[in-house]
Amino acid sequence: MRVLSGIQPSGALHLGNYFGMMKKMIDYQEHQELFCFIANYHAMTSVPDGKSLAKGTLEAAANFLALGLDPERSLFWVQSDVPEVQELAWVLSNFTPMGLLERCHSYKDKVAKGIAPNHGLFAYPVLMAADILLFQSELVPVGKDQKQHLEVARDIAIKVNNEYGELFAIPEPDIDDEVATVPGLDGQKMSKSYKNTIDLFQDEKSLRKQIMRIVTDPTPVEDPKDPERCNVFNIFRLFLDKEQEKDLRTRYVAGGLGYGEVKEELFVTVRDYFAPFTARRTELLADPEGVRRILADGAQKARYVAAKTLRKVRKKTGLAY
Ligand code: ADP
Ligand code: TRP
Repeated sequence: MRVLSGIQPSGALHLGNYFGMMKKMIDYQEHQELFCFIANYHAMTSVPDGKSLAKGTLEAAANFLALGLDPERSLFWVQSDVPEVQELAWVLSNFTPMGLLERCHSYKDKVAKGIAPNHGLFAYPVLMAADILLFQSELVPVGKDQKQHLEVARDIAIKVNNEYGELFAIPEPDIDDEVATVPGLDGQKMSKSYKNTIDLFQDEKSLRKQIMRIVTDPTPVEDPKDPERCNVFNIFRLFLDKEQEKDLRTRYVAGGLGYGEVKEELFVTVRDYFAPFTARRTELLADPEGVRRILADGAQKARYVAAKTLRKVRKKTGLAY
């Protein structure tokens, strides 16, 4: 099966990004054909500063590679290195009713927040549809927030196929409800915008500080505690197998376990889990040309796949004359 997803290059990564999206993508390489890209065209809707976008793009690539994305087994590229996607986006625009875009929550939310909408923000879902359809993607892992954008992509694909015959595979969303919401320090969804994150790549001191800030209730040390309602437990379990989770649960229920003690254990676990990835990331970022070479190679392979779809599109639409 062909699995495709993109991630915007948007600053520091947190456990929510990792467990909600990146780890899942990286695990797919084992058994599926994985297509993964850095959505830098999309990021232009929120990052107007060129220097920041360029730096963020390179870092996002290094992050994915450090966390285990293997460019030998998967296709990994930067969106703007395959500009064919823009041509397809234009074609798809002609099959996209205004009303479909006007109904998109993420657009409406941004407008409601007072962001002056421009055409890039409005057309965002069409470009996302082009990302997906250009590569004949069958499965698209995304967070819940992207569900509607996926429906838009499917609607557009069906419309085009009705007009021209079977041009595109109809993509299925892959939304995992359990990890869909990694909780943050305060138990709400972990998110940059809530400032409740535990970040992946940071020094020990700031990692410990973030973990010590996890909100807990005032139950005294000696009392039994309810693991399900504890933010520390709910974050800890992401790192535990079934057996380890059961052991920790038993210690909660037995009483005598202080939150300070579990937090310290969580700190050591998170630190040790990400230490090799952090080291690899530092190496990659010390050699930006090496990262660029990997990305150029990925883009070349992606363009080859893209060209096949685009040839058919040009023929059917009459752009090839
Ligand atoms: P943020 O909410 O911090 O701004 P983004 O919107 O940039 O995060 O998310 C990038 C990716 O990470 C998306 O695929 C999103 O679904 C996933 N993601 C972000 N936060 C979480 C979370 N708390 N739980 C699960 N997945 C998440
Ligand atoms: N809009 C997605 C997000 O913000 C990123 C994205 C762009 C994407 N194009 C995509 C995700 C295509 C999946 C498929 O998370």
